[in-house]
Amino acid sequence: MENPQPLANLDEWEMDLLQRYPDPNKIATNKKTEAFRDYEAETKDSVKEFYRLNHQYQSYDFVQQKRTDFLKFDKREMPIWNAFDFLNELVDDSDPDTDLDQMQHLLQTSEAIRNDGHPDWMVLVGLIHDMGKVLCLLGEPQWSVVGDTFPVGCAYSDKIVFPEFFKNNPDFEHEIYSQKYGVYAPHCGLSNVTMSWGHDEYVYQMMKDYLPEQGLYMLRYHSFYSQHKESAYDHLMDAHDHELFEWVKLFNPYDLYSKNPNQKSWEELKPYYTALVKKYLPETLRF
Ligand SMILES: [Fe+2]
Ligand SMILES: [Fe+2]
Repeated sequence: MENPQPLANLDEWEMDLLQRYPDPNKIATNKKTEAFRDYEAETKDSVKEFYRLNHQYQSYDFVQQKRTDFLKFDKREMPIWNAFDFLNELVDDSDPDTDLDQMQHLLQTSEAIRNDGHPDWMVLVGLIHDMGKVLCLLGEPQWSVVGDTFPVGCAYSDKIVFPEFFKNNPDFEHEIYSQKYGVYAPHCGLSNVTMSWGHDEYVYQMMKDYLPEQGLYMLRYHSFYSQHKESAYDHLMDAHDHELFEWVKLFNPYDLYSKNPNQKSWEELKPYYTALVKKYLPETLRF
């Protein structure tokens, strides 16, 4: 029987991203190429198993089913600050590698954005960008919540991490979905493209009425590494997407590399974030 939860916790995927995309400010260029070459060989078995499941099951039909189920937002409703507490239930104390809970990661991201003087809605994006991980608490397996995202309904790019695992996906040999453009037209724009299911699309759908478009792109595509790091899907992007991806790229390092050992305490930060959340978001969130 397959174990649908190979990761000790969701952060294992994010720690693995740091192996694949090390902080450019912290390593010399020659080391970077070396790290890249060894990445697949050095990936932990649990992470590999996680990608194997993700790539096998994220098919076009699977995503449509999840969208139908979860985009009704009929499962839970709670005040937004309770939603952060709910998300924090994801922490796994048994894992010695993880020292940050979800809320700490969100605050580190948002505080780094705030310290660099970006607009307040981008600070808010930092604070909420992983809220979609509540999917795990609603019974979804890890491979349906985190991991790199990618378009479905067309050929899987070989620039996606561990592309060889896609051969077990039912769409891999599908008459239409295995084609370069699949169900899409060239440069149709990402608003017409269905992405693999996970926390990015879910939080985007949750927030789409409340934030400027740049912020919504950051939410929706923050795990779309094969595009924002490798430009693998330029053939589906339109000019507007390219413009907005500059914002996705601006956001990404804050998500990956914001680790501040001298983070202010929540008591100190609370007044600012209470006001910020109130400015943009409704009182309650629906899951
Ligand atoms: Fe994320
Ligand atoms: Fe994140």
